[in-house]
Amino acid sequence: MIVIRGATTIERDDAEEIRGAVKELLEQIENRNSLARSEIVSIVFSSTSDIHSYYPAKAAREAGFESCSLFSAMEPEIDGGLKFCIRVMLFIEKNVTPHHVYLRGAKSLRKDISQKFNVAIDGPAGSGKSTLAKALAKDYKILYLDTGAMYRACALYALEHGVDLANESAVCDMMQKVDLSVVYQDGEQHTCLGGKDVSSEIREPRVSMAASVASKYPCVRVKMVEKQREIAGKMSCVLDGRDIGSFVLPDADFKFYLTASAEVRARRRFDELKAKGYDVNFDDLKREIEARDLQDSAREFSPLKKADDAIEIDSSEMTAEQVLAEIKKRMQEKI
Ligand code: DC
Repeated sequence: MIVIRGATTIERDDAEEIRGAVKELLEQIENRNSLARSEIVSIVFSSTSDIHSYYPAKAAREAGFESCSLFSAMEPEIDGGLKFCIRVMLFIEKNVTPHHVYLRGAKSLRKDISQKFNVAIDGPAGSGKSTLAKALAKDYKILYLDTGAMYRACALYALEHGVDLANESAVCDMMQKVDLSVVYQDGEQHTCLGGKDVSSEIREPRVSMAASVASKYPCVRVKMVEKQREIAGKMSCVLDGRDIGSFVLPDADFKFYLTASAEVRARRRFDELKAKGYDVNFDDLKREIEARDLQDSAREFSPLKKADDAIEIDSSEMTAEQVLAEIKKRMQEKI
């Protein structure tokens, strides 16, 4: 059994308005959660005390919710509370992740789930950005865009086509040919070159440093940033990278800058690569991480940088769960 919540508002205490608002709210909850009416066991409404002219439960029955039990209650009057608001809880015989629905004036009750918003997570390699960004996107049921994967794909193209990454004009010529796309399957990002999925290849250690080199050229960045802005402009998403809060989305609703000591970051990368079966040396990895930090933050165009309004979190002594909880707490505080 799961519980789905929702709320909506009406303009004035009027039976017709209540019928319309209740029908719209329940239908949207059904659609967003792909519910069959037979899966709804019970619906409980509560409305603010300024609503007297009709029972929301009766409106639901009239809207065709016939087989479930229905109940309406009135909330006490609260100073400063939202006016003319109808809240609902649906008890469902199904085991899925609930999508709660907040409409009209009730959107203000849950800004985190009812409006388009972007979360920018920047920081150096191995600071835990992608683990956090994935978990956050899953929790809020929004898209996760791994921008590092895009630079990695450009670097992979260069490595596979013998393009000299030290030669800026050769890299810029190459960018005319790179056909990069980001597609999503079951919520997972797949990075493709010429339609071929290269999501695994771009994680190879040889690609990491190459991506850091390729990403310093404006002709590479401009193209990638354009794509990132296009995706983020269409839907709510969490983006992780180096310059999201400072350059790609300076107006992002939430900005975080994640750090950790080089030692801890190298250890994380080492464990991750070892688990994938790569033969890596810890000291080499640490040196590479430090060299990448320097290169990513010293480049002239759009370097790795904490945006002035980003919240900085040092994850050296924190578990992934603790970082996620801290970020969600900070987001709730801002809402
Ligand atoms: O996050 P990552 O390790 O997958 O990123 C690979 C490289 O791409 C990184 O060293 C710098 C570059 N990058 C960037 O310059 N800007 C971003 N927004 C993301 C990554």
